[in-house]
Amino acid sequence: MADTVTTGTAPSVAAATEAPLPSRRGFLSWLAVAWLAFAAGVGALLTLTARFLFPNVLFEPPSSFKAGYPSDYQAGEVDERWKEKYQVWIVRNADMVYALITVCTHLGCIPNWLQAQNKFKCPCHGSGYYRSGINFEGPTPRPLERAAISISPDDGQIFIDKARKFLYEKGQWTDPAAFIKTT
Ligand code: FES
Repeated sequence: MADTVTTGTAPSVAAATEAPLPSRRGFLSWLAVAWLAFAAGVGALLTLTARFLFPNVLFEPPSSFKAGYPSDYQAGEVDERWKEKYQVWIVRNADMVYALITVCTHLGCIPNWLQAQNKFKCPCHGSGYYRSGINFEGPTPRPLERAAISISPDDGQIFIDKARKFLYEKGQWTDPAAFIKTT
C-alpha cells in the first residue's frame, strides 16, 4: 500500500474561515445592477399606472368623410381606396355612384372584391354578392348595405355618411340619398 504524500503547508484555521472583503469595483458593480433593477421596476410601475389611467380604447373611424370628386372614379369599376380606412366601396356605373358598406350581412366578415369574377366574395362562409351588392350565393340572407352619398355643396366632393344606411330589402336603394346620378 502506497504512502499518502502531502505537500505544502495546511492553511491556517483563521485564513480558511475569513470571508474575502468585497473590492471597491465589485461593490460599484453591485450598486449599478441594483439601480438598474430599481429603475426597471419603477418604469414597469409607471407603465402600469399609465395603462390604468389611459386604458385601451378602440377609435372607430369617423362615420362620414369626403371621397373626392365623381370624376375620380371610373365608370364600371369597384373602387377600393376607402375599404381599409372607412369600410366602404365606391361603385360607379354608367349612370350613378353608390357606396357599399364592406360588411358581410351574414356574420360580419369583410368580403373581397374579385374583379375577374365580377363579384364580392366573403372568405368566411362563401357568401357572394353582385357588384350591386345583391347576394346570390352562400348563407347570407340579404344584400350588402349602402351608405348615404351626396355631393357636398361647399366643394362638389362626394360626401359619404355611413351613419345613414339603406337596405335593399326595405326598398331603400331608390332613396335619392342612396346614390348620386351622374348622367
Ligand atoms: S360572414 Fe360572410 S359568409 Fe359568413
